Amino acid sequence: MDSKVLSTGIPHKDLPINYIRPESDRPRLSEVVVSADIPIIDLSSADRPHIIRQVGDACRTHGFFQVVNHGVAAESTEGMLEIAREFFHLPLDVKLKFYSDDPSKTMRLSTSFNVKKETVHNWRDYLRLHCYPLEKFVQDWPCVPSSFKEVVSKYCKEARELGFRILELISESLGLEKKYIEKALGEQEQHMAVNYYPPCPQPELTYGLPGHTDPNAITILLQGQVSGLQVLLGDKWVAVNPVTNAFVVNIGDQIQALSNGRYKSVWHRACVNSEKERISVASFLCPENCATISPVTQDGSTPIYRDFTYAEYYKKFWSRNLDQEHCLELFKNQA
Ligand code: OGA
Ligand code: NI
Repeated sequence: MDSKVLSTGIPHKDLPINYIRPESDRPRLSEVVVSADIPIIDLSSADRPHIIRQVGDACRTHGFFQVVNHGVAAESTEGMLEIAREFFHLPLDVKLKFYSDDPSKTMRLSTSFNVKKETVHNWRDYLRLHCYPLEKFVQDWPCVPSSFKEVVSKYCKEARELGFRILELISESLGLEKKYIEKALGEQEQHMAVNYYPPCPQPELTYGLPGHTDPNAITILLQGQVSGLQVLLGDKWVAVNPVTNAFVVNIGDQIQALSNGRYKSVWHRACVNSEKERISVASFLCPENCATISPVTQDGSTPIYRDFTYAEYYKKFWSRNLDQEHCLELFKNQA
């Protein structure tokens, strides 16, 4: 390929050879379950114990749920998706000023997943931003389109607030005090991945993102109207169809560890299509680097995982490729 990113402004006629997955590792799109229900939770319900039960059930059975009536204005989410679209439609030379393939950078445009580690690439460009504390990072963010910083800052604050509300519900659903997880994770970082999946000439042969689990605590995903996200339930890939004005929430590896395996950080992936570009915005809440993640055991059960710091975990995560075993497996206590 002659460009570092896929979003060149020129449609792709062919899938380059270094995006083609081996036969045994293709999405098999015709086998994806498109009609299953991912739990939808109405956060405006007055029955809080009911919401808590729904959250607990979803975390145990799916590791994923969607929230509606979540209090984030449609103006914010639509503004975020629109600015993301405008960003990826900027001229190539403007965008490339932000390009880096170094995962330690706190602001970068990149492509695929971890270009220096992987052998097969993924049909995705992404802009990765650190977002908390905002004052520390916002000055390094792109200043194009001109309202980028303003729109994205507003969105980030609202996503963070929603994330904390959800962590309270998760704490309570585990029988813990409302603020337990918030306290255990310390001053949480917030990272954002603005994902851009261009139309792909051969979606059957590649991924936008291959199956992975998220290494952080929880992820709040805003997806536009185009399908592509799928979760592995049992041995079936199940589509998470877009629901208007909903966020998709998923449990990351840290909540799986903290819950001592009761809640699942499930495998998920993004597939692409030949017709439409797809945009998604993932907000990751991440424990403070020095926070020690320690499984909460119940009724005298033994901890499945050893204690570790988030810094240790994150380093391990980025030293690997995406489609390997669950990173948490490497932190298990000896049986
Ligand atoms: C992610 C992710 C899914 C999507 O960014 O970690 O899983 O639909 N994204 O873009
Ligand atoms: Ni993910």
